[in-house]
Parts: sequence; structure tokens; C-alpha cells
Amino acid sequence: MVQWLRSPEEAVFMIKATNIQKKYGDLKVLKGVDLEIKKGEVVSIVGASGAGKTTLLQILGTLDSPSNTQESQLLINDTEVTQLNDKNLARFRNEHIGFIFQFHQLLPEFTALENVCIPAFIKKTPKEEAEKRAMELLDFLGLKDRYHHKPNELSGGEQQRVAVARSLMNKPSVVLADEPSGNLDSESADNLHKLFFKLRDEFGQTFVLVTHNLELANMADRKLTMVDGLIVS
Ligand SMILES: Nc1ncnc2c1ncn2[C@@H]1O[C@H](COP(=O)(O)OP(=O)(O)O)[C@@H](O)[C@H]1O
Ligand SMILES: [Mg+2]
Repeated sequence: MVQWLRSPEEAVFMIKATNIQKKYGDLKVLKGVDLEIKKGEVVSIVGASGAGKTTLLQILGTLDSPSNTQESQLLINDTEVTQLNDKNLARFRNEHIGFIFQFHQLLPEFTALENVCIPAFIKKTPKEEAEKRAMELLDFLGLKDRYHHKPNELSGGEQQRVAVARSLMNKPSVVLADEPSGNLDSESADNLHKLFFKLRDEFGQTFVLVTHNLELANMADRKLTMVDGLIVS
């Protein structure tokens, strides 16, 4: 047996979720979701409104936790996040998870550059270093002339690209996006979608994208469908 060759079964997973359940009172929203995402993979999740997509994404992002923490498992980049205390979980989230929401969620009083720097400041990265990376990201995303604009001085597409830059600031293990193009015109949506794949191709960035946009869903390496609290394909 050749020891130094990796067999395909040993493919490296960035996320391994097992038996994720979520209840709100008597309402079972997630009914035991199993999910594996490989490093550098772009996976889309589609499904009807109310199927549990946002709930699942919030749990994968450690913003929420399963109802059955004892029987479920959530490994992100080899860390079992269900075992972390609040302080370590907050740190883990800041360093390993990037979020992109339907509505950009940028802070209105801050410039594009400042918004992008925020995750780095939370991590206590020195200002100069943070700003240098933020500018590189904004340049890469075609926002070189927009450093000092506030969100309301930017187009929807530009706002969302600033949100992408912010999500990438701390070199996350995975970027989770919930309807990232849901609020964009079709041309801006198209540009944003191409960007995700460019980031994967150039930097090996892993993405989980919840979307109603079938074009984006079908571009992904794998398209998963959620029905009624379960992934069915
Ligand atoms: N905090 C909450 N309290 C009670 N019910 C919730 C809560 N969050 C979501 N739900 C319910 O869980 C179900 C799934 O919601 P969600 O994950 O947002 O679905 P999707 O993103 O697929 O549209 C819905 O029926 C929703 O009403
Ligand atoms: Mg949703």
C-alpha cells in the first residue's frame, strides 16, 4: 500500500455537518441535515421559501446552534464548533466564516474601506495592515475608485461587492451567502456570480450559496435542494 498517495475517500472537507436538527417550539425546521463541503468547492442550495435554507446557513455560520447539540456534529476546517465556548466561538466565526446577505448590511456611516476593515479590526489586526488588504480586495473587486464612498453613494452591485470584500477580509475558511443577488438587477447579479467563481479559481475560496437564482445555482459545482427541512439531492 502506497502511504503517501491520498485516496479519493480522504478528500479534505471544509465543512462536515451531521444530523443537524432545529426546532422552534413544536415546529421542526431542520430534520437531521447531513452535509459535506470540500475545500475550494462552490455549492448552491435551492428550495422553496420556508424550506429551512436560512436556518441551515445560520447554523453552518455558527450564528445559531442546532437544537440537538449532543447528537449533531459540525466540523469546520477540522474544528468541532459545537464544542467551543461563546468567546472562542466568536473568535472562530470572525476568523473562519465570511457572510454575505441579501441586503448588504454595510454600516451606513462608514466608507467602503472602513466597512471592509471592520472584521480585521475585530481581530485586532493593525490598521495599516488591515487597510492594505482592504484596498487590495477592493481593487480586485473593481472598486478602486470607491474607497471613500459611503454605502448610499454606491450602486446596489457596488454595495454587494463591498460586502464580498468584507466577507473575505480575514481569509475565511468558507463564505456563506444568503440570496446574495436577490436584490440586484440581472446584470449586477451576473457580475456578482462570476466573481464568486473567479475567487474560487484564483484563491481556492470555498462558497455555500443559498439562492433563488437558477443561473447561479446551476453554475455551482454541486446544487443541493432543500425540501421541508431536509436536503433531498
Ligand atoms: N426564529 C424563528 N422562530 C420561529 N420560527 C422560525 C424562526 N426562524 C425561522 N422560522 C421558521 O422556520 C421555517 C424555515 O425558515 P427559513 O430557514 O427562513 O427558510 P428559508 O430560508 O428556506 O425560506 C419557516 O417556517 C420559518 O417561519
Ligand atoms: Mg431564507
